Amino acid sequence: MDVIDIIVAKRDGGELTPGQIDWVIDAYTRGDVAEEQMAALNMAIVWRGMSRAEVARWTDAMLRSGDRLDFTGLGRPTTDKHSTGGVGDKITLPLTPAVAACGAAVPQLSGRGLGHTGGTLDKLESIPGWRAEVPPEEMRRLLGEVGAVVCAAGSGLAPADRRLYALRDVTGTVESVPLIAGSIMSKKLAEGTGALVLDVKVGSGAFMKDPAAARELARTMVDIGTDNGVRTVALLTAMDTPLGRRVGNALEVAEAVEVLAGGGPPDVVELTVTLGREMLLAAGMDGAKDPADALRDGSAMDTWRRLIAAQGGDPDAPLPVAAETLEVTAPVSGTLTRLDAHAVGVAAWRLGAGRARKEDRVSPGAGVTLHAKPGDTVRAGTPLLTLHADDPARFPRAAEALEGAYAFDGPDDRLPLVIERIA
Ligand code: URA
Repeated sequence: MDVIDIIVAKRDGGELTPGQIDWVIDAYTRGDVAEEQMAALNMAIVWRGMSRAEVARWTDAMLRSGDRLDFTGLGRPTTDKHSTGGVGDKITLPLTPAVAACGAAVPQLSGRGLGHTGGTLDKLESIPGWRAEVPPEEMRRLLGEVGAVVCAAGSGLAPADRRLYALRDVTGTVESVPLIAGSIMSKKLAEGTGALVLDVKVGSGAFMKDPAAARELARTMVDIGTDNGVRTVALLTAMDTPLGRRVGNALEVAEAVEVLAGGGPPDVVELTVTLGREMLLAAGMDGAKDPADALRDGSAMDTWRRLIAAQGGDPDAPLPVAAETLEVTAPVSGTLTRLDAHAVGVAAWRLGAGRARKEDRVSPGAGVTLHAKPGDTVRAGTPLLTLHADDPARFPRAAEALEGAYAFDGPDDRLPLVIERIA
């Protein structure tokens, strides 16, 4: 088979055959298809899309590119959550220990930052000593002992996605229903979870900007999960403004710890509890302890501390702080009616919280603190945002990203936090 024929077929709007899909995923994983060829194919998929049969086969080929974990026989049901990625989306951090504290086992295979959205592993790696690599036999042990593990998909799990994910990040080919669905679902099926809750983000800061595209992505992923025997539910949730008040790796860990301590911003708490309840329901644990109680009574925090320590991290170590800060003040007095998630995400990324190239390192302390959220009243000249960076030369471009990102006293067209449930 010839990769150029496959690229051209998709470029011209054709439907790829199962044989072509199997071949190209396998050849790319083995290194027989060049990065630029795969980038071209990805771009053709972004423009031309894929049929339901193509997406199912693409996902299956990625799944078959590696191993599939099996956590049956743990003594507690496995359940997991995956977000399509948002700005300030640190929900995995409080959610995983909260759900484990309610009795489920949570095998969380997470990713690194993609585009302007942060990655859970980048966030956790800001905790001194914490390591993302956990071999499968240790995952099983941690699921039994702690009830949770948050780690990178090992090189044996969906290796095709590992390479594709990094390539898409730097070639403008993230925003595509089939590519996102295949990427997420191949990893989630490989991870061996029995139940799955998908948090499909909608809005300016999400890969899917409008509810119709997000609904299509959710439906595609729920169908793939269900067809593969995993109880799968999706929630469409708002990503028009950042989640919580901090965006950036260590900044978000600090905010997650506030939630685990029973405080934290109301939107982060509400989404953590809502997704936690869905995860327990999907796992068939209807009468289980409520995640809200686990956050209140300290059991989620206890599990967090054990989870971090079990992966080499020191839960008491001070988190890294960026060397420099710059305050952005409110230009007028009034009610903040818009604070654009995408602009804040790009600003955080330019400050060093994300990567420009796949081999870049992220700056753990970089990011943005939000002193006001839509709905809050502010006075002219008071701090609206604080920018954090190790290198002050990063401030001008970050500030540029924020031009026009906020509005006062305009129409209140905020999305509800939870927009729709798709099962
Ligand atoms: N998250 C993933 O795991 N893959 C994508 O393609 C986008 C978000």
